[in-house]
Amino acid sequence: MLGPSWTDFSSSPRNDSAHIRVPHCGVPNLGATDILAMTRILGIETSCDETSAAVLEGRGDEVVQKSLVILSQDIHRVFGGVVPEIASRAHLTSIVPVVERALEEAGITLDDLDAVAVTNTPGLVGALLVGMSYGKALAFSRGIPLLGIHHMEGHLFAAALEHRDAVPPFTALLVSGGHTLLLDVEAWGKYRLLGATRDDAAGEAFDKVAKLLGLPYPGGRYVEQLAVEGNPKHFRFTRAMVRKNALPTDDDYYAFSFSGVKTAVLNAVRASKDIQADKADVARAFQDSMIDTLVEKTWRAANAYSRQRVVLGGGVACNRTLVAAMRARLGPDGVTVFAPTPRLATDNAAMIARAAFFRFERGERAGLDLNAYASSPIPGLIAA
Ligand code: KG4
Ligand code: ZN
Repeated sequence: MLGPSWTDFSSSPRNDSAHIRVPHCGVPNLGATDILAMTRILGIETSCDETSAAVLEGRGDEVVQKSLVILSQDIHRVFGGVVPEIASRAHLTSIVPVVERALEEAGITLDDLDAVAVTNTPGLVGALLVGMSYGKALAFSRGIPLLGIHHMEGHLFAAALEHRDAVPPFTALLVSGGHTLLLDVEAWGKYRLLGATRDDAAGEAFDKVAKLLGLPYPGGRYVEQLAVEGNPKHFRFTRAMVRKNALPTDDDYYAFSFSGVKTAVLNAVRASKDIQADKADVARAFQDSMIDTLVEKTWRAANAYSRQRVVLGGGVACNRTLVAAMRARLGPDGVTVFAPTPRLATDNAAMIARAAFFRFERGERAGLDLNAYASSPIPGLIAA
């Protein structure tokens, strides 16, 4: 007997028995403390080029990270970008040892898990399938619930792992290699999508500019390092859709577009007589343009919805200059800006398990028919 059937797992009405840890003798203890007892969730993330697993323990917003293992696939540096086929194969090789290590670091075995949460969208389908299939097999074989988590919802929860107050209501700016989302988060699971990029994602723009400047992939952190030495007055690049007289009713009030600044960098590189001498100045002007835009749009959102907290997430949130600029702009209005540390800002399974706590406690379960999708909207969108 492998446990409850998969149709039981996918039932949407809240199932309180899911909150009761069942001892392995199979007899549920229904005492009051046990209803509030700890839940342990294994998170698995394989949406791009990081194979990651984490164990989290707790309940509600009181969740403790017991372990986090992240294996980055450095092979893609050779190609200057992620090669999907290589990514899938590398996940296949590393998923088992990465999960085993996460359990070992947490000091538990598979028997101690209450649920398994996997990223099933968005991302590279072949890469997602590896983590998702492995997670399905684990959940099925242990007879425990499975949850499919949206990668960007994971990024939204990352800061809450380190900062108790990084909880709704807040304004969120998610800036990764594939997405740029500005959200008003009224409550967990209630997201107003205010703005997104109309072309490149913020991280993608950093990576492309890094390539133009001859820096390694992924280039965001190298651009940031180089920009520190740059002269801010040498170049000035476009800032898209940040007109001073813009109104919240304008359809580009919260929107982003980074292809213009990328082209401006390309033109500056081509026109330069000595790019080695100019490249720090180009990096500085590019980063200033990116940061001004990201800060302005976030300020608009926080101001329009009177939020006292701003939560950043995604790899670009590693950029310390961005975080400092955000604090300098929003701090005087009494707004606190939360950013995860780099390990949690970039792709990791702890954020997936953290988002899964919220969904698990709402009684959400995935069935064995859970599928992987290259793109899909973040769940819980409400009208803007
Ligand atoms: O969230 P993430 O790890 O993966 C995706 O879901 O895409 O984000 C990766 C992105 C890359 O584009 C990388 O260049 C960027 O985050 N990044 C940075 C910095 N560190 C990482 N961008 C700007 N400044 C940084 N310090
Ligand atoms: Zn990501």
